[in-house]
Amino acid sequence: MPSQHAPTIAVADPGEGYAFGDDHSQAAEQHRCLAAYLDPMTTARLAATGVTDGWRCLEVGAGGGSIATWLAERVAPTGEVTATDVNPVHLSERPGLRVLRHNVVHDPMPEGAFDLVHARLVLRHLPERQTALAAMTRALRPGGWLQLDEFDIDYGPVLLAPSRAAGALYERFLAVKARMFVDAGADGGWGRRAATAMRESGLVDIDPVPHLMTWHADSPGVHLLIHLTHHLRDRLVAGGMTDAELAEVRQVMRHPEFRASSCVIYSVQGRRPR
Ligand SMILES: C[S@@+](CC[C@H](N)C(=O)[O-])C[C@H]1O[C@@H](n2cnc3c(N)ncnc32)[C@H](O)[C@@H]1O
Repeated sequence: MPSQHAPTIAVADPGEGYAFGDDHSQAAEQHRCLAAYLDPMTTARLAATGVTDGWRCLEVGAGGGSIATWLAERVAPTGEVTATDVNPVHLSERPGLRVLRHNVVHDPMPEGAFDLVHARLVLRHLPERQTALAAMTRALRPGGWLQLDEFDIDYGPVLLAPSRAAGALYERFLAVKARMFVDAGADGGWGRRAATAMRESGLVDIDPVPHLMTWHADSPGVHLLIHLTHHLRDRLVAGGMTDAELAEVRQVMRHPEFRASSCVIYSVQGRRPR
């Protein structure tokens, strides 16, 4: 049943410490890649909650806004979606969708206000992820749903490459990228830890679902990785990759024979006790 009160979230200063630094002009392309890669999985899971007309939803770290927009269409005409981000420049308001600059770690959050709270690939980046999770849990009305969609990048082997050296280069690129995120405060294995963290946050009916897929040159996940070789170029070079190696790993991923396992994507749902 939808909650009755329009939630209010404080509008506050931008946050700090996020590895991608969303002022970068590359961020829009990153959000497009993420939507193409992950929206089918995310929306199928969200639909299973029964989200419908009248619900009040909170999309934390909404990025390019594809999920917030999908939710706004589901809850129309009487529901409302609040889309927050520390840097909401890629988000647009529309009827039933409001946009707020908000840091999920530091800024005040209303309590008991939302039927559904969702965040994808946000908490993994935040050293204070448990604090943010507690705030998101408190923001739910009794019986309300939390869904976290998060990577576990500790798994994701190459399965087939044009040569052994090409496969090894791809895996070195993944390792340098993983180290870069850890150095920036991220938890690469957060996806497999999210269910336990949600239970410790007081949620019940926890339901973690892992997703894996085979990647090839045309996979949206590979488009995201190729994009990251540009977006994160300076950090990858600081981590030991050369520009020539980044160009080569792009060729490896574009090769028609290339196959790799995706990382594991966990979609975890839980509910606030009634
Ligand atoms: C990897 S992007 C994911 C975007 C979107 N959730 C998606 O999956 O397409 C992470 C997003 O979280 C936002 N973000 C980072 N730190 C945040 C914080 N402390 N509070 C709110 N949003 C944050 C970033 O600005 C960025 O838009």
